[in-house]
Amino acid sequence: MKKIGKGKAFILIVMALMLFLAACSSSGSEGNTDNKDTGSGGTKSGDKLVIGFSQVGAESEWRTANTKSMQDAIKDAGHELKFSDAQQKQENQIKAIRSFIAQKVDAIVFSPVVETGFETVLQEAKDAGIPVFLADRAVDIEDDSLWVTFLGSDFVEEGKKAANWLVEETKDVKGDVNIVELQGTVGSAPAIDRKEGFEEVIKEHPNLKIIKSQTGDFTRAKGKEVMEAFLKSEGDNIDVLYAHNDDMAIGAIQAIEEYGLKPGEDIKIIGVDAVKGAFEAMAAGKMNVTVECNPLFGPQMVDLIEAHLAGEKIEKRVAVEESMYTMDQAEELLPTRQY
Ligand code: AHR
Repeated sequence: MKKIGKGKAFILIVMALMLFLAACSSSGSEGNTDNKDTGSGGTKSGDKLVIGFSQVGAESEWRTANTKSMQDAIKDAGHELKFSDAQQKQENQIKAIRSFIAQKVDAIVFSPVVETGFETVLQEAKDAGIPVFLADRAVDIEDDSLWVTFLGSDFVEEGKKAANWLVEETKDVKGDVNIVELQGTVGSAPAIDRKEGFEEVIKEHPNLKIIKSQTGDFTRAKGKEVMEAFLKSEGDNIDVLYAHNDDMAIGAIQAIEEYGLKPGEDIKIIGVDAVKGAFEAMAAGKMNVTVECNPLFGPQMVDLIEAHLAGEKIEKRVAVEESMYTMDQAEELLPTRQY
């Protein structure tokens, strides 16, 4: 048999070593069978990912803070963001997701405007091997293989917290407590769940009565407009406003003042989100309580995407931790609020 020279043997050993190292570095992305081949590997190894983010819109202070948190986190992690604002329209989100699929992004983050009607487009993403991460809002779809995880708040719990505050606040009131409700966007998860949680608690207290309930689409302008209509038909009969977000509560406060009543006193005001605007209203004595809904989960979402693409198993539901704040805490906490 012919002997191999020392030089050739060295080259062969180096080549074998290189092949071994290449095999090791690709095994991370193969660990998760749901993944498409991202080309770049797309793992915690520091590779740059392309992430498509379909956001609901810019309807509230909360949403603005959430968009910024996601944008900053993706940029800080060194990834590329493809951003699309749906302006609260489902058809815009479907178009955006299709465009992300066509651009072969590594992952799609998606905050659904409404809960239903996304099966087809999510199936298209799955068929293309692109993992979808639900942010903030859930979908009402049976096949949960269409998304990797849902990271967001527990909206039912938020509704319960709002109602529990009211139960405590009115425990000595004899007679009916008339509540008007400003609902969020029709068909959206927070509108459905915050209503459900609130009603679940107040049904045990028959004197707490919702006398009017209408959508204010999560915006200040609509919140003001609908509150004006409530005041026109119910006037001094209203004891409490439960708004599914702070922006609508702030719009309603303007309507109440223009009507000649004192918000926070004549009509108790309950909001959700805990945005700065709510703390300002509480510090001025015009709003009574806000239930926190934390929008600053961008870094947590980036971690989940990286972990999934690295082949790690992640939970199907990841909750954001939150609290509740009352009027008497507002002045002290206002300077510390980040959104
Ligand atoms: O989905 C979260 C909700 O959407 C926030 O509470 C509201 O302000 C926003 O528009």
